[in-house]
Amino acid sequence: MKKLDENLTQGLCRITPSGALRGTIRVPGDKSISHRAVMLASLAEGTSVVRGFLESSDCIATLNAFQKLGVESEHRPDSLLIHGRGMKRFHPPREILDMGNSGTGTRLLLGILAGQDFSATVTGDSSLRSRPMRRVTEPLTRMGATFTPLEEGFDLPLRVEGGNLRGIEYRSPVASAQVKSALLLAGLFAEGLTAVEEPALSRDHTERMLETFGVKMERKNLRCVVQGGQTLAAREVRIPGDFSSAAFFMVAAAILPGSDLVIREVGVNPTRTGLLHVLRAMGAHITLRHMKYFGAEPVADIHVTYAPLQGTRVEGETVVRMIDEFPIFAVAAACASTPSVVTGAEELRVKESDRIAVIVEEMKKFGAVLHERPDGFEVSGGADLTGARCFAHGDHRVAMSLAVAGLAAKGETWVQGTAPVATSFPGFFQILSDLTGGQVENHT
Ligand code: S3P
Repeated sequence: MKKLDENLTQGLCRITPSGALRGTIRVPGDKSISHRAVMLASLAEGTSVVRGFLESSDCIATLNAFQKLGVESEHRPDSLLIHGRGMKRFHPPREILDMGNSGTGTRLLLGILAGQDFSATVTGDSSLRSRPMRRVTEPLTRMGATFTPLEEGFDLPLRVEGGNLRGIEYRSPVASAQVKSALLLAGLFAEGLTAVEEPALSRDHTERMLETFGVKMERKNLRCVVQGGQTLAAREVRIPGDFSSAAFFMVAAAILPGSDLVIREVGVNPTRTGLLHVLRAMGAHITLRHMKYFGAEPVADIHVTYAPLQGTRVEGETVVRMIDEFPIFAVAAACASTPSVVTGAEELRVKESDRIAVIVEEMKKFGAVLHERPDGFEVSGGADLTGARCFAHGDHRVAMSLAVAGLAAKGETWVQGTAPVATSFPGFFQILSDLTGGQVENHT
């Protein structure tokens, strides 16, 4: 197992079984959209107003990186103002750009730095330093940027020398929004056209937001083409609640008998809502109400009531549309009455942790029966979960999933390593504690 920074192993949560979850909650702003809002607003001419920005450590790392590039921002009580510098007026940073735990922040930033006429160094925490960056640096090198890894055997820290990009035609081997977005952002600085084609449609927040900021692009099926030399105009951006954060409460309500929960104003972009369809196929009662748009992003209130779940099969494009939801899906599958199987999900091995190995190892501690596959896992279902002492392996989504498993288990559960939850969902344990009448106690 890789060695984790000490801060990724801190935080301890005690969970005792809870009854039904009832009420109405909100989850914080979408992480993917918050990163993009900072980036596009920084690249735009004029001042953008961002509402609902996710004040989590991942998104703050992105904001800090752009501050080091000369972008000024102001926190207001109900918004974040970002004074854009335009496409080519960033300063060369005097310090290393430390992106913390954030794969999205890093890979998208590499696309933007590839277009700058200066060099910069990017790094991150132990989890991020062990994640693959070649998937973006390889095509960006073909566009004309130069990347030099500074530590033998790791992709980060990384020195980037940008400038003089030319467009490419790139067929990505992985369905990754981070790869697609890095290339589209670099394409804005490149001479000619940049085309990206992916094997399945990954989240399309970058495309939607670029269009909102006035960029023209051609989008057809799995292919996206952007012409270099375009400029962005400042906008007001309203960020919906994060579907991937709502997912923990959706599953909790789906597995705890008697639950009746509404999660308000959650982003329901179809490239993100795979779990909703999978849970419905398992028998969950989930409805969407009050559909509307925040800019180009669809938003709804999600209403979940308890119903017994059966197992299911998850494969193909559905994997891409629920790529961040497999730790919490494993909890739902463990509580289902029949077996489930996930295939075609090898990408899970290069997330904040190896999510296939980690979720199988940790859910077994509750008495669930799971088996690893190279590209996914199998869950037998039908087990009565018992409280466990488990470890989050430096992974925020694993920590939150194990806490939800604890609510459905008999006896007491302890989750060690809850600190990374702050990367995506500050306030998670407070909401869970309020909803359960204090069955969850997190100690930082
Ligand atoms: C993200 C894309 C996904 C996802 C990550 C956020 C994004 O990663 O897992 O949490 O905001 O672009 P990949 O692009 O590596 O699939």
